Amino acid sequence: MRTEPKLDVVIAGEINVDLILREAPPLELDKELLAEDMDLILGGSSSITAFNLARLGTRVGFVGVVGDDTFGRYCAERLRWAGVDLERLRWTRKAKTGITVWLTRGARRAGVTYPGTIAMLRAADVPSDYLARARHLHVGAYFFQKRLHAGAPALFRRARRLGLTTSIDTNYDPTERWDSGLRRVLEHTDIFFPNEDEALRLTGARDVRQAARELAALARIVAVKRGAQGALVATGGRIFKVPAVRVKAVEMTGAGDSFNAGFLSRFVRGASLEECARAGVEAGARAVTRVGGTAAFE
Ligand SMILES: Nc1ncnc2c1ncn2[C@@H]1O[C@H](COP(=O)(O)OP(=O)(O)O)[C@@H](O)[C@H]1O
Ligand SMILES: [Mg+2]
Repeated sequence: MRTEPKLDVVIAGEINVDLILREAPPLELDKELLAEDMDLILGGSSSITAFNLARLGTRVGFVGVVGDDTFGRYCAERLRWAGVDLERLRWTRKAKTGITVWLTRGARRAGVTYPGTIAMLRAADVPSDYLARARHLHVGAYFFQKRLHAGAPALFRRARRLGLTTSIDTNYDPTERWDSGLRRVLEHTDIFFPNEDEALRLTGARDVRQAARELAALARIVAVKRGAQGALVATGGRIFKVPAVRVKAVEMTGAGDSFNAGFLSRFVRGASLEECARAGVEAGARAVTRVGGTAAFE
């Protein structure tokens, strides 16, 4: 009998490409203008976390849906290169792999996303036998994954029953409703990874400490990402700050996804919360030193 290789973390989520056009002027209809630089890279909050977590030495398996097309094959090739197990990646001809086109100007950027396969993953696509090979389940970009919402609380409960710990990152909510059943998922969540803006919008709290406290009443641990200000971690009655690592920031894509990767790389090894959070801010700082979410981890 073949023994399946063990995994540390299963990441269930979206996988897509980012096309970054740098130093591009604002778009105007009926005009064609020039950008100064271009990169086509692996995007997707979940897939960036998977790539970087694998590069940090963690055994990662990815469950998601990708188009059987050029961009899909490119994404898979990148994840495979990083050492991510893709045995349960589902290929489809029914939809195209998603893409986000970013136009950047200095530190600011504007993006348009064609979701395609991004929104196709359902909870039933995450097999229990695969989960049972791992210790932790992570879901990225929750709000973008519409078909995952209905089954997500049951998925997290199922993972916990199988002995896994769980984590989730929502990213921005494109519907701006800030709900999509998230609170029911957080009841079965060990670590919730919002950024400051998301934490405030989710709670309506006035300040980040209050937001972190409110969210920590739902999830076991809340790690709020605060850009150049580092992170704030709340659990039970305890709350502590972690300063950022000072770096020359070049481009912010994937900072939060990398924070998740750094944090989880220690969490699955049983490290203290302080150590996990420090590894998070280190990985976030590393990510912003290069263009795109994964370049600094290659
Ligand atoms: N300019 C920066 N300098 C140093 N660290 C940064 C910088 N920007 C982000 N980070 C690190 O990356 C983490 C995640 O970035 P953040 O922008 O808060 O998340 P998100 O990408 O989800 O919006 C932060 O908590 C911080 O530790
Ligand atoms: Mg984020």
